[in-house]
Amino acid sequence: MNPMSIKDAINSEPRDSFSGSQPLSVISICLDDETSTVLQSFAESAPLIRLRSQFSEYWVRESDNTAEWLGDPQPDICIVDFDRDRRKAALAAENIHSGSPETAIFAVSTDAQPDLIIQAMRSGCSEYLLKPIGREQLLNAVARVGGRRKERTQQFRAQVLTFMGAKGGCGVTSVVTQLGTLLASSFSKRTLVVDLHPDFGDAALYLGVTRHRYHFFELVENTDRLDGELLQSFLARHSSGLELIPAPEGNETPRRILPGAVAQTFDFLRSRYDYILVDLPLGLSDENMEMIRHCEHLHMVTIAEVSALRNVARQFNYLTRKEIPPERFRVVLNRHQKRSLISDGEIEKTLGQKIYWKIPNQYAHVVKAINGGDSVAQLTSSELAKSLSELAVQLGAKSTAIEKRKDGMGFLGLLGR
Ligand SMILES: Nc1ncnc2c1ncn2[C@@H]1O[C@H](COP(=O)(O)OP(=O)(O)OP(=O)(O)O)[C@@H](O)[C@H]1O
Ligand SMILES: [Mg+2]
Repeated sequence: MNPMSIKDAINSEPRDSFSGSQPLSVISICLDDETSTVLQSFAESAPLIRLRSQFSEYWVRESDNTAEWLGDPQPDICIVDFDRDRRKAALAAENIHSGSPETAIFAVSTDAQPDLIIQAMRSGCSEYLLKPIGREQLLNAVARVGGRRKERTQQFRAQVLTFMGAKGGCGVTSVVTQLGTLLASSFSKRTLVVDLHPDFGDAALYLGVTRHRYHFFELVENTDRLDGELLQSFLARHSSGLELIPAPEGNETPRRILPGAVAQTFDFLRSRYDYILVDLPLGLSDENMEMIRHCEHLHMVTIAEVSALRNVARQFNYLTRKEIPPERFRVVLNRHQKRSLISDGEIEKTLGQKIYWKIPNQYAHVVKAINGGDSVAQLTSSELAKSLSELAVQLGAKSTAIEKRKDGMGFLGLLGR
């Protein structure tokens, strides 16, 4: 083991930098003077860590609130010296581990006895650094924490956007599938459509995707063994790059879905996509409510008809009473016509809410896209494709479009302008 001198630390260049990311915040507990000085020098010389505080007691009294003294945000790394009082050090590590599980705990000690190392690891320490601390040792341990943090932040975190009809036939499946193919093809976004209908889902049909074996509810029943490989067997793929988890094709016997299982499944799916669009069946069933609670936004797809608008108003009322924040609701007015019997202003007044998006009434284009199992993305000059492309941008799918503009393709070109 190479002891790290202060000079070494000052002159050292970090071998593994988490370039572009914030330094890791570090606190220390009861470090002896020499280790403390080494740590300070390391922090000053290497941009990998920022030394936030150095405590001189173990904070293990019952009255000590771990979260409070750790500070907010909680540190990335806590270095605990085990030599002054091993029992208190282990207790402190346990408290930190349970109060702030994301904080990595390093034990430091002069004692290399295996049972002591095991005891420290059992208290929640992920590293055991022997004194005098070696430069390589410290650097590698910090790099491992940095690597894990990078992995966490680089994971996909999809926006989950749900779509529900004000009544049957308002266009939910058309909007979800066409928006999905656009996000996947024109914006190169990792996009998944989930058809949450308990039976007779249309999304697979509208996309012309026939080769699939399993449906969403079978996936939900298998959440306990859900991993990347299992997920692959549930995905159906459209030529645009869009992926789909279909609904059951026929009328199946009703399934008992455990509360929380739908949300748990989406938590897993979120880490793999940029966008997840959910085709919800009508009504406010337990599963729909779970989805609405779990998603970023609920898009209520309506048309300019009294009965549909009345349903939107009622459902928003109900959801507000169920403490769903109103800012999550979005009104999508489908089959929009400039000269409609009910004006946009009247709709907004009735619903007490702005119309979030208007999709033009273009029956021929929609039917063509559905019948061909194709995508409106190919009809770039249609008003429908323009509207859905602009909706994709509104939903945050800007980066690729801007990249495309840089490549000379031009976003306006994408919109057929
Ligand atoms: N923007 C549009 N312009 C014209 N016609 C449309 C538009 N959007 C959807 N349609 C038509 O409306 C009909 C119903 O569409 P869709 O099946 O997508 O509705 P839905 O809300 O999913 O219905 P369901 O309640 O049966 O699930 C289809 O014939 C479709 O072609
Ligand atoms: Mg539908």
